[in-house]
Amino acid sequence: MAVILISLIVGVLVAFYFYLAQKNKYWQKRGIPCADGALPGVGHMLWVICMRTSLPECCYKIYEDNKNHSMIGFYNFTSPSLIIIEPELVKTVLQTNFANFSENNVDIDPILDPLVAHNPFFNSGDKWITARKRFTYAFSSMRLKILLESVKSVCVILENYLDNKLSKVRKIELELKDLFSRYTAQVVAAAGFGVDGFCFDDEKEDLSFQKNGQAILNMDTFLFIVRFLIPSLNKIFKKSLTPKHIDRFFRTLVADLMEQRRKDGIPRNDFLHLMTELERTEGDKIDLEMLTSHALSFFLDGYETSSSAMSFVGFQLASHPKVQEKLRKEVMTVLDKYDGVITYEGLKEMTYMDQVLNESQRVISVAGLMTKRCTEKFELKGSDGLVCHVQPGTEILIPTQGLQKDPRYWENPEVFDPERFSPDRKHSIEKFTFLPFGEGPRICVGMRMALLQMKAGLAAILRKYSLELSPRTQLPLKNIPGTVLTTPKGGLWVFLQQL
Ligand code: HEM
Repeated sequence: MAVILISLIVGVLVAFYFYLAQKNKYWQKRGIPCADGALPGVGHMLWVICMRTSLPECCYKIYEDNKNHSMIGFYNFTSPSLIIIEPELVKTVLQTNFANFSENNVDIDPILDPLVAHNPFFNSGDKWITARKRFTYAFSSMRLKILLESVKSVCVILENYLDNKLSKVRKIELELKDLFSRYTAQVVAAAGFGVDGFCFDDEKEDLSFQKNGQAILNMDTFLFIVRFLIPSLNKIFKKSLTPKHIDRFFRTLVADLMEQRRKDGIPRNDFLHLMTELERTEGDKIDLEMLTSHALSFFLDGYETSSSAMSFVGFQLASHPKVQEKLRKEVMTVLDKYDGVITYEGLKEMTYMDQVLNESQRVISVAGLMTKRCTEKFELKGSDGLVCHVQPGTEILIPTQGLQKDPRYWENPEVFDPERFSPDRKHSIEKFTFLPFGEGPRICVGMRMALLQMKAGLAAILRKYSLELSPRTQLPLKNIPGTVLTTPKGGLWVFLQQL
């Protein structure tokens, strides 16, 4: 009896193994080359789930090893995904044939995560158009000028925080991600909600927007990866991505603020006010749940991305004193022109700052990868003769980091050189090889807000302080595996002192 049972179990296991192994033949059957190392059941994800690497890094390695192809097959566990290598194909997916690839391949369960589910990033069709329209409205030049007033108030808080730390010592050692997370979370609190984020006040840590942000985003754990990559597990375990107390925090905050505003009717310089203005002037009905959701999107999409990008810029400036000096000169010249005040026009005139931001984002990509989903079948044709009949539901991976570090498009790609983006040279950059904010109809809708807050914060620092790299920063930088965004191991440490 026992022998029969064991044979049966072994038989089932062997059959299951062959079934899974068969799944890894999807690309082979279609004549598309596949990245080495796919295993039955886990595909190319073994090292990702073992937290030895991150998905963007895994795709970067595959990009590096397969650059001679226009596209390459990949297995996200048992699902076949396609990594696009040729910039022309990236253009097809993101822009020319957007209708066939119109969704981001990340799903959110609206029952489990009702607030996050309205985020434009996770939506498609009419819901996406409506949500995107609202963000586009808030980030027009005219309204960014309004939001800049709140950003400027945060720059003052940032300066006071640093001055206070420097009041007794000549220089201080700081971790840049910590500093800029405080800054961008405080910006979201001020420019998003019109409240104090308590991010520079360690005694009010429990109320801090930064701590709340970390509670949602910094789950650097195996659980987070699995839940993010396999959302179906969230349904099985009935766990939402947003912790309950965070959901409550934002609902209560927005409800209280709206009640107060209805009573006093005072116009504010923040996103919430702009949304209510949109509702009034355009008759676009936005209920409290939707309003809370948009405000949370402002937080989720803007806080961590911008603070990471700023910390990488700070790291590059500390590592390249000449670039820092040149940028400081530009900041001083422009600020002098505007009587020392940070203005919208002044920030626009800081064009070397744009070069530095671009080059920093090229060298260290904040996200490293974009994932799209085929929504209508399409024939992708590479210049190497490969033809892929992409089926609806297939994941398309765009290896941003690979494209931004490819020596075919960038001379000495590892070298940090803002001159690549100078007015004379930027036109020769191959299209669709530089994608810090994505491209096409789904390009980051918060890009202008991101640039505004990053430029204002950096200008506030450079006008008063100098940055010098601390030996505590572990070089060369290595990413912490298992994080959604690029996060250097050990942090980015600098010495900061008054000029
Ligand atoms: C340096 C900071 C930022 C970076 C690097 C960044 C990057 C990105 C990228 C790569 C995408 C995907 C684009 C695509 O799918 O083609 C995206 C989408 C998005 N971003 Fe940003 N972002 C930043 C800041 C912000 C800010 C400040 C906000 C809002 C306050 C924001 C809101 C969004 C939204 C709502 C989407 C989804 C757009 C859509 O699917 O239509 N982002 N961002």
